[in-house]
Formats: sequence, structure tokens, C-alpha cells
Amino acid sequence: MTETQSSTLAETLAQRFPWPRPVIDPPDAYAQLRAENPVVRVTLISGQQAWLITRYDDVRAILADPRVSADTRKPGFPSLGYQPSEHERPFLRMDPPEHTVFRRLLSKNFMVKRVESLRPDIQRLVDKTIDAMLARPERPVDLVEHLALPVPSTVLSWILGVRAEDRVFFNKVTEALMNGSDVTDPQAMQRFLQAIQDLNAYTAEVVAEKQAQEDPGDDILGQLVRAAREGTVTHQDILNTGLLFVLAGYDTTANMTALGTLTLLQHPDQLAELRANPALIPAAIEELLRYLTIVNLIVLRVAAEPIEIGGQVIPAGDGIIPLNISANRDDAHYPDAATFDIHRGARDHFAFGHGVHQCIGQPLARVELHVIFETLLRRIPTLSLAVPVEEIPFKIWSPINGVFRLPVTW
Ligand code: HEM
Repeated sequence: MTETQSSTLAETLAQRFPWPRPVIDPPDAYAQLRAENPVVRVTLISGQQAWLITRYDDVRAILADPRVSADTRKPGFPSLGYQPSEHERPFLRMDPPEHTVFRRLLSKNFMVKRVESLRPDIQRLVDKTIDAMLARPERPVDLVEHLALPVPSTVLSWILGVRAEDRVFFNKVTEALMNGSDVTDPQAMQRFLQAIQDLNAYTAEVVAEKQAQEDPGDDILGQLVRAAREGTVTHQDILNTGLLFVLAGYDTTANMTALGTLTLLQHPDQLAELRANPALIPAAIEELLRYLTIVNLIVLRVAAEPIEIGGQVIPAGDGIIPLNISANRDDAHYPDAATFDIHRGARDHFAFGHGVHQCIGQPLARVELHVIFETLLRRIPTLSLAVPVEEIPFKIWSPINGVFRLPVTW
């Protein structure tokens, strides 16, 4: 490490976290921290202090440690922007055994066999969406609006139990949620909060309808209504879970589609290999997940007991930010980690988190991304970016990385 780099690190550490980042890569300071100061205390934009964890092995240990809590009600829980009120706490922000109730109730929806049974419907949906995209008279076409958004939104509406006639409304609200999560823009935040209110009001309406029926159905909202009848969950839990699924299951897959397409277009040799040998697509998706790690500033924790890690003792009550994006770029675990390489075999990444909160929807995300990329590459072999990369609007301040628009042509 040179002297200049060290002084830059000191300057960065003096700034409130999160720090500005390049468009796709994490801030340079993360690599310096892994080398010099892997467990470090920083000041957050909220004025709170919290510990950043940057090495692969330490992030893994923290996320698997039962002394670490995900409960937002605990003092010291790190705040990086939108802070839901206490009654809005979904199971993402609960600890076992409270959290276990929800995983037990809902995990059957995401068993590999169950999500594989959705594959033919997802294939039809993707084909129809790409037909409509190809039929558009204008060029360029925005891939976000015409592919990345409608596919996961529609799949989510199936599994949640949104009424077929309300899908257009549902797509609109979810889109407002997706485009409004910039913590530095008060107007965007306002639209985001409004979209949350609209979605809660809509979910309450669907739930009331299901409650009035003897058989509430076997979709997720139906399963929750049944659990509420049995006294396992409350009415508020149903609303919180509905909103969590929309926030966690839609924005993520949509951003992976758009940023994943962009990354492949930026690596034409590997893209050509995938076109020639589509059997490589699942491995390429794992590498895209690792390399992009789009969900990172959502993975937040607090120490429920003192924890020794990386030569530091984190006292009970201190906030912890296990930086899964930094772990996924750790050269000690992935040699030359900053290089995108579809042959890396990166299945042990933390793009879906790790430990009890590891993404419940990952089998579904994998099927959706597989169908999307396989179909897109096969059906539009000449797909290309329609503008220079510098003109693409990246969501550099959002806790989930992505792009607002991706103009493409063919
Ligand atoms: C490529 C797409 C996706 C990525 C990158 C992603 C990433 C993540 C990550 C990192 C976590 C862990 C958060 C933490 O530990 O604090 C998580 C949790 C979660 N994800 Fe995903 N996710 C994706 C798709 C989905 C889908 C499709 C669904 C559902 C339809 C979903 C539902 C959830 C839920 C409900 C949780 C909370 C789990 C718990 O607390 O037990 N995600 N996701």
C-alpha cells in the first residue's frame, strides 16, 4: 500500500458512510480496508457509528453468528436511510425464533421443485415480453421498461396472489417503488413512501377479500391469511410480508436483468461463448451475481453480545455492516476478484446473503434469470448498447445497485 493510497483511505474514513462509489464497482476504499483495516468503525449518514466488515471469511462468520441480530428495534441497529416504523418490521428484520415461524410457513413456495414447475409459464411470459419488445417501431428500446421490469413484477403477482385484473396497477406501483429509492433525493423518497402506502392499501384490500372466503387460496397471501386464522401471524405481519416480497423479490431481479445484460455486452468474448454454448449460462449467472452483488447496503446487523472478529471486539449494541459486496471482491477468496469471468465457478458467493436470512427467493431468481438471459441471447443475437456507457443513468445512491434505463438496439 503506498502512502498516497493510505492517506486517501484516511480521508474516506473521515467521510460519513455510505461513500460515493463508481457505477458498478464498490468504492476503492473497500479493497484498502480488506488489506489494512478489515474491521473498522465508521460514522454513518445518520450520525450513528457502526462497524464495517470487509473480508470474505469475516463476513461469512458474522452472518452465521447467532450473537448477531437483524432486529431493527435494538438500539444501535444501523440506519442508512428509510427506517420503517416498529410495526412495519418484516421477517427480514426479525431473529429466531420469531423469524423461523415465517421461514417455516413460506419456504415451500421456493423449493426447487416448486419453482421449476413455474418455468414453462415464465418461459411463455418472457417470450411474449420479447415479442412485444421486438414489435416496437422505435429504436433504441429501453430494456428496463420493456423486459427487466415486467417479467419479475408479473411473476411476483402470480406467487403472491395479486388478482389478474390488477396486474397493470401492481406493475405501476412496483415500478414507482423501484424508481424512488434514491436516499439523497427527497422527491424520489416521497414517491417511494407514497408507493409503499399504495401497495399496503392494495394488499389490505386483497387480504380482506381472501379473509371473506372459506378457502383463501394457496398463493403466499392466501397462506398468510390461513396462518392468521390459526393465530400464527397477525394482520400487520401479512402486510409487512407482502411489502417485503415486493421490495426483495422484484427490484432485485429487475436490476440483475438490466445490469447483467450491460455487463455481458461489455464482455463481448464471454458473451459470444455463451451464445455458442448456452449450457454455460447458469455459471455465468453465478458470476454475474458475485461480480455485481447488487443487494449490499440492505444487509445490516447489530451485535446482541460482544463479538471478537478480525482482531477487534465489537461491543454489544454496536451496529455492524457485513459488506457482502466487499467479501465477493476479496482476492484472498476469489483470485483476481475484480475481473468478470464466467468460468470462475463462483457458487459460494454472498450475493444472496448467508446464514438464517439467506435469500428465500434465490431458486426463483435463478430460474427467472436463466429464462431471461437464455431467451434474450437466443432471440436477439445482435443486441447492443444504443448509447455510450457514460450516458447510462446508474442508481449510484440506491441501496440496491441498478440502472434507471438501458437503451438497447439490434
Ligand atoms: C437476483 C435477485 C435477488 C438478490 C440478489 C437477492 C438478495 C437477497 C439478499 C442479499 C438477502 C439477505 C438480506 C440479509 O441478510 O439481510 C435476501 C433476503 C430475502 N430475499 Fe432475496 N434476492 C433476490 C431475489 C429474491 C426473490 C425473487 C424473492 C422472492 C420472490 C426474494 C425474497 C427475499 C426475502 C423474503 C428475503 C428475506 C429472507 C429472510 O430474512 O429470511 N429475493 N435477498
